[in-house]
Amino acid sequence: MKINDFKLEVYFGQYEFTAPYLLTQSDCESMEIKELLAMEPGSEKEFLNMRLGYTETWGDPELRAIIAGLYENMVAEDVMVMHGAQEGIFGFMNVMLDEGDHMIVMYPNYQSAYEVANSVPNCEFSKWYLKDDGEKWNLDFDELEALIRPNTKIIAINTPNNPTGYTFTNEELKSLGEIAEKHDIYIFSDEVYKGLEMDGENRRWMADVSDKGISVGVMSKAYGLAGLRVGWMVSKDHDVLQKNVRFKHYMSICDAGPSEFLTKIALRHSDELLKRNLEIIEKNITLANEFFDKYPKIFSRRSALAGPIAFHKLLLDMPVDKFCDEAVTKKGVLLLPASIYDFEGNYFRMGYGRANVPESLAKFEEFLIENGYV
Ligand SMILES: Cc1ncc(COP(=O)(O)O)c(C=O)c1O
Repeated sequence: MKINDFKLEVYFGQYEFTAPYLLTQSDCESMEIKELLAMEPGSEKEFLNMRLGYTETWGDPELRAIIAGLYENMVAEDVMVMHGAQEGIFGFMNVMLDEGDHMIVMYPNYQSAYEVANSVPNCEFSKWYLKDDGEKWNLDFDELEALIRPNTKIIAINTPNNPTGYTFTNEELKSLGEIAEKHDIYIFSDEVYKGLEMDGENRRWMADVSDKGISVGVMSKAYGLAGLRVGWMVSKDHDVLQKNVRFKHYMSICDAGPSEFLTKIALRHSDELLKRNLEIIEKNITLANEFFDKYPKIFSRRSALAGPIAFHKLLLDMPVDKFCDEAVTKKGVLLLPASIYDFEGNYFRMGYGRANVPESLAKFEEFLIENGYV
């Protein structure tokens, strides 16, 4: 199989571990292993006594049950543990897309959602575009219906969306489920930022909304525990899960036992972790909004309803690529330009989940001043 470069990961490969001021990260602030273990007294000893053997391909049964408990209608058998969300997306698209299939992808999106379609012969995808109304991002459901073809197999959504932060309401999720059921199409829903709602409406998981829904979740983003590399795929459709488990045999085979152990602790304290990260995000957004409001001739901000990222507009008469390139090379401030998503327009992604956002924002302002932008 030949697959195009993953532009975002290539870009991050260049800067993520060298640029000191990461102002575009999509994961929340992480923590030390001992901090996590301290959430359950006695767990440290148990952790150190673990044996490092293989684990079950479907995932630790206890962990599967805990993940099922995050949902409304799921049991352990509806859950497959994956090596990060990435393995879930890549695996699902590989096993589901065949020659001659068509899929629809909410766009812009994380590249793995649609890139596999490009590598399957005679497989096409249509972009369901998010539109900028000058204040926020929007989607039109009539456009979605118009994109459906007789051979449409999958609608791929990502909610809250990377990079815009657009988040379907529960009403919209219901409509998506109805559309999927009416046309017998799978809804593949990447929900890695779920749990960080800022508008007071807790979102349902797509797999709970419809039996055509496949939900992907992960520890990396909303929980801030990317190093665990634990994600999951949840669905009432066990044929889909079976196909995926057979593909996993060719990928990670199984997940890391120590990571599964730590994930169980984290998810038993799910609300606490999400609350901690939401507080960081909300504080950072307040600061960032003040920053943007100071420079209305340079930026036009777009607010997100949930999640740690947003996609703002650069108003300067220069390509956003050049602006982002200068910010990272001259000042070590990392932003992500729209071209990484093959998306037109002078947009860039900002991330609010890290504790050092105030410091990075200050460096960003210094960059603007030192380079004569303000
Ligand atoms: C929308 C989305 N899905 C999936 C992933 C991959 O997540 P993970 O690193 O946990 O595999 C990312 C990472 O940035 C993402 O933004």
